[in-house]
Amino acid sequence: MDFLSLAQQRSSCRNFDQARPVPRDLIDKVMEAGRLAPSGKNTQPWHFYVITNSDKIKEMGKAMEPGLLKDVPKLAGVAAEKGVTNLVFYDAPVIINISMHKTHSIDTRQMDIGLTLQNMIMMAEALGLVTLPVYNPKWYGEKIIVETCKIPEDEEFMITLCLGYEDPAKPRTKRPRKELAKISTYIDL
Ligand SMILES: Cc1cc2nc3c(=O)[nH]c(=O)nc-3n(C[C@H](O)[C@H](O)[C@H](O)COP(=O)(O)O)c2cc1C
Repeated sequence: MDFLSLAQQRSSCRNFDQARPVPRDLIDKVMEAGRLAPSGKNTQPWHFYVITNSDKIKEMGKAMEPGLLKDVPKLAGVAAEKGVTNLVFYDAPVIINISMHKTHSIDTRQMDIGLTLQNMIMMAEALGLVTLPVYNPKWYGEKIIVETCKIPEDEEFMITLCLGYEDPAKPRTKRPRKELAKISTYIDL
């Protein structure tokens, strides 16, 4: 599939197939794509911490949920409605927690993390997997992630990528995008 078709096909998944674990070689391919991402001055300021124990993922998500629900109470009904037990990781069978090295002080670091994340998202899609990037663990569970993954002090946990197969009974839905004409301008000099 060409890249534009893949980008058109991709959307975030909040209903993962509980019966289908992700083979390790595919997780490695997703991270390999992340490894190849460009970064400012080629600093590659990232580290990937993978958790494949779905019980542990659920336990971690549950511990983060009260903070999320306090800030966004309207999410309370969503778990039952979607048939998921957790609103942070949405019962994903794999999570990849991405940290950023603090030692590279250049301004590009957050963009670098976004680029490695996007490479991983598109690689997953190309492999028939689905993803959901989640920032909520940063807001509501940074300590839990840092302790569980033993992230060293010279790194900052940034974001989690949920990974798995789509539940065929609950396909992803598309969220709208602004039209290209509204977000682009040719500067005709
Ligand atoms: C940096 C970032 C953080 C996000 N954090 C969350 C999150 O914590 N929880 C969630 O349900 N979705 C999260 N999302 C998913 C966005 O809601 C989603 O990408 C957006 O609504 C567009 O939908 P689509 O990915 O299906 O095209 C995040 C996406 C990005 C890029």
